[in-house]
Amino acid sequence: NGNKPLNGTTAIVTAGPTIEHIDPVRYISNHSSGKMGIAIAEALADAGANVQLVLGPTSQQTSHTGITTIKVQTAQEMFEAVTTRFPHAGIVVAAAAVADYRPANVADRKIKKGEAQLHIDLEKTPDILRSLGDSKGPQQLLVGFSLETNNEKEYALKKLREKHLDLIVMNSLADAGAGFNYDTNKVTLFDKNGQERSFPLKSKQEVAQDIVSAIIELQHA
Ligand code: C5P
Repeated sequence: NGNKPLNGTTAIVTAGPTIEHIDPVRYISNHSSGKMGIAIAEALADAGANVQLVLGPTSQQTSHTGITTIKVQTAQEMFEAVTTRFPHAGIVVAAAAVADYRPANVADRKIKKGEAQLHIDLEKTPDILRSLGDSKGPQQLLVGFSLETNNEKEYALKKLREKHLDLIVMNSLADAGAGFNYDTNKVTLFDKNGQERSFPLKSKQEVAQDIVSAIIELQHA
């Protein structure tokens, strides 16, 4: 079908958590399920895009024929999977909950129980979206997420500006039914032109449609 709005466009979607190894049996991670990102990948594919889904460790998956899934574990692996594909992408949606810090040294043997306290030094992981924002071309459209518990709008607008995004999706952990693992979400979208779009609580599939509609509008703005 040559009539879909995103035919001929390659889109990269990151989704799910990352895990950061401590030793061969332990890791640091977060509660991301990947459901929101997978729903966006499916909505982009429904709109005709060729979608590369870069997915962290989760039991969620998709069998949509328009989507190629690339499974990764760590922030570093996600960074490499995304940056190598970025030159060929028209749209990137970063819905993954990437760990901000990782153990500075990964023990090659299981850490044994010892004294009462154990200290693990953490170092920053690469900020994937920020590095894309720094290198993007004029035709590339970048979408980020902002999940906060407080000062949500202020932080969302700061990320939109500082990471050079075209669109940011704000969701608050303070809203009932929004965020990790729920099948629903409540979002507000802010775009780089200053337009704000607010939506009620909806299924993640419907939220994904709203986000893809905003992306298509921005492409024609
Ligand atoms: O700054 P913060 O982590 O809150 O920004 C969230 C947005 O940045 C999300 O879109 C997330 O996927 C992306 N991100 C990223 N790489 C990181 C951290 C966040 O791509 N290391």
